[in-house]
Amino acid sequence: MTAEEENFKNRRTFAIISHPDAGKTTITEQMLLLGGVVREAGTVKGRKGNFAKSDWMEIEQKRGISVTSSVLQFDFQGKRINILDTPGHEDFSEDTYRTLMAVDSVIMVVDSAKGIEPQTKKLFEIVKERHIPIFTFFNKLDRDGRPPLDLVDELETILGIEAYPMNWPIGSGKILSGLFDLYHHRVEVYHPKTDAERFLPLNAAGTDLEQANSIQQSPAWAETQDEVEMLTTAGNEFSETAVLQGKLTPVFFGSALTNFGVETFLETYMQYAPAPAAKPTVDGDEIAPTDPTFSGFVFKIQANMNPKHRDRIAFVRVVSGTFERGMDVSLARNGKKIRLSNVTEFMADAREKVETAVPGDIIGLYDTGNFQIGDTIYAGKRKVTFAELPTFTPEIFMRVQAKNVLKQKSFHKGIEQLVQEGTIQMYQAWDSGDYILGAVGALQFEVFQFRMENEYNTEVNLEPMGSKIARWIKPDQLNRQMASSRNLLVKDRHGAPVFLFENQFAERWFKDKYPEVELEAKL
Ligand code: G4P
Repeated sequence: MTAEEENFKNRRTFAIISHPDAGKTTITEQMLLLGGVVREAGTVKGRKGNFAKSDWMEIEQKRGISVTSSVLQFDFQGKRINILDTPGHEDFSEDTYRTLMAVDSVIMVVDSAKGIEPQTKKLFEIVKERHIPIFTFFNKLDRDGRPPLDLVDELETILGIEAYPMNWPIGSGKILSGLFDLYHHRVEVYHPKTDAERFLPLNAAGTDLEQANSIQQSPAWAETQDEVEMLTTAGNEFSETAVLQGKLTPVFFGSALTNFGVETFLETYMQYAPAPAAKPTVDGDEIAPTDPTFSGFVFKIQANMNPKHRDRIAFVRVVSGTFERGMDVSLARNGKKIRLSNVTEFMADAREKVETAVPGDIIGLYDTGNFQIGDTIYAGKRKVTFAELPTFTPEIFMRVQAKNVLKQKSFHKGIEQLVQEGTIQMYQAWDSGDYILGAVGALQFEVFQFRMENEYNTEVNLEPMGSKIARWIKPDQLNRQMASSRNLLVKDRHGAPVFLFENQFAERWFKDKYPEVELEAKL
């Protein structure tokens, strides 16, 4: 293997998941500062949701949020970091989920005053299902937070994962004085008077400072010592294997806004975060990053970055080999040969122009309609098809019609393409044949409506049906009597039967009535 082919080993590709306002943007900005990419705070914030420096969609600009996940690449301590942005707004979409299929690890940022919030939990379920290593950062320590023991307990019970505190806060809010760093065997001082005072070594037992310091006068010191003793005697064991299997999350505390604990976190994270992994193929094989032939898969398509042109960018995660500008690849779905010349990368530092990409990297291909979400591209003669990306169970539904009946043709074309692209899911009522759209986030409907008008010149009427519980059943178990006023029978785009239940009560009622019928949820 050449030195260049070994380059993937220094890639760290991850997503930061958090509930809106927990501090994801602020911590990203601190990471860019540490990486020397930006020199002052506020740079990222000012262009929130605009990581790739492109013209995002009009509605994105209007609402000031990131509609689709984007990528940020920079170097830190000899490693190249690829951060994949997952929109933290309430209106997140399937794109957020799919982005998690393209990362090797995840950082979860939690507001220490609020604890685990619903959206974090939802994203976390997918991370857990895929056994993706996860690292937790409890943020906003400079504010009065909840007791750290409660936070860690909540993390373990709500998310069903073991936690290992790498450091522990010495107070919070006004009395925040530092971090008791169990992992590095030191105390990290909040607002140290000198650089030398920033880290104070612990005694051999790890119970107290080696040398007396004023931090021991902190009103929180004694309590921290008690808690640390409890953690070291009764807490979980640290196991790198368990971390890499996604069974144990290393837990860090800090304050992104005051840049306290972020460097320690990032350094330790880089030590354990996994390098790019192999990816499964449809045949049950795997393609390893050490495989010299280029391959990758499309995990997201961002359309209409410039409304004047019908630009689309297909985001590809490189799985094996080296991407080189201008190379020829095949599209596994239809065997089409494509030259990859119009490509964009995402270096945060625009001075650096990247011509090659290695496993773990993300490249953006300008697309004129060739690609679909989940597509595999590969170089060479051997055909590679990666395992399908999962479909997610939609939760919100709307009936959709063309406003103008004469626009049926473009209406159908638009729906078909947008559904293929993964913008939204499409169902049809079993009896009436009505078109029903399904999404995991309400924003997907807006994007759909906007694109139908702008790209397919078709105005649509959307009629909200509210949230539903979608459950697939086996076609041979379907009996038309099962449809009732509490559920709606629809077919998905492959024609498979799906029940949309009004609520959990309706689902339970169904299960009681038809115990032999298996109800299946997607992820
Ligand atoms: P997000 O991307 O996860 O949505 O969160 P973001 O970083 O935008 O942070 C949300 C708010 O929380 C911001 O305040 C930010 O300044 C604040 N924040 C982030 N980290 C910390 C922290 O460690 N301590 C404290 N005290 N605050 C923190 P905002 O008022 O909503 O935004 P701005 O108007 O100040 O920019």
